[in-house]
Amino acid sequence: ATKPVAVQGAMDVEVSALLDEMEDYKTEQQGGYTFYVGEIDDIPVVVSRTEVGMVHAAASTTLLIDEYEPKAIINQGTAGGHNPNIHVFDTIIGTEVMNIGSIKTDHLDDEKGMEPDSWHFMKTQMREDGDIKEVASFKSDPELVEKAWNVKEKYGYGNVVKGKIGSADVWNREIDRIQWFHEKAGTDAEEMEAASVAQVAEGFDIPYLSIRTISNSEVTNDGIEDLEKAGQYGAEFAIEVVKEIGK
Ligand code: 5AD
Repeated sequence: ATKPVAVQGAMDVEVSALLDEMEDYKTEQQGGYTFYVGEIDDIPVVVSRTEVGMVHAAASTTLLIDEYEPKAIINQGTAGGHNPNIHVFDTIIGTEVMNIGSIKTDHLDDEKGMEPDSWHFMKTQMREDGDIKEVASFKSDPELVEKAWNVKEKYGYGNVVKGKIGSADVWNREIDRIQWFHEKAGTDAEEMEAASVAQVAEGFDIPYLSIRTISNSEVTNDGIEDLEKAGQYGAEFAIEVVKEIGK
């Protein structure tokens, strides 16, 4: 049988458009995680609701790979903007994803406060053929990036751009703090799953792709925060990407 394309969303608002598109699907439960097995345009697809956060993303991705052997994993959903030029409802093809919760600080004595200028990001250690490889960020599969880029004109709710996604179990709303990530890590947006998925997928050598639609931004004056719409728009774009992969 042909291996399925997996599409992940953390929340119902990020998977419901995919389920509507599949029409007929089987719902399967693995532990606390839900997988929806069906087809989009005759392409075998597994939609995975990962639940929110890095640990859920890692656990459900491990199960996804073990249980369904996907040929590609698309992690998609909403995100908060870090780049002032990227607006609510724009969609980022995450060419690169980074765990921005992995930070080491220098020592400071009691009462010396906090010094973000001296904080640095820790690399992730990946074991490859017995040896440790240190990675600062994970790259989406270039072929999948290309496929997503091919269908960017089909997205009607904003711009589609390539960018860097930062993931952590944090929702940042302090503008100085957001700028700190944007400057130090080069992030264009933040969310809570992509880097975790990428880390697991890389360990199993499965091609993956991050796609995120901006649902909120503290650094633009969009005046909109809409998880539901952004979730829907992103999932609709992911459907186009699946069709392009299946061609
Ligand atoms: N910061 C962190 N996560 C965000 N999400 C959307 N916007 C943000 C933001 N500004 C996504 C996460 C998570 C859920 C809370 O929404 O990926 O799944």
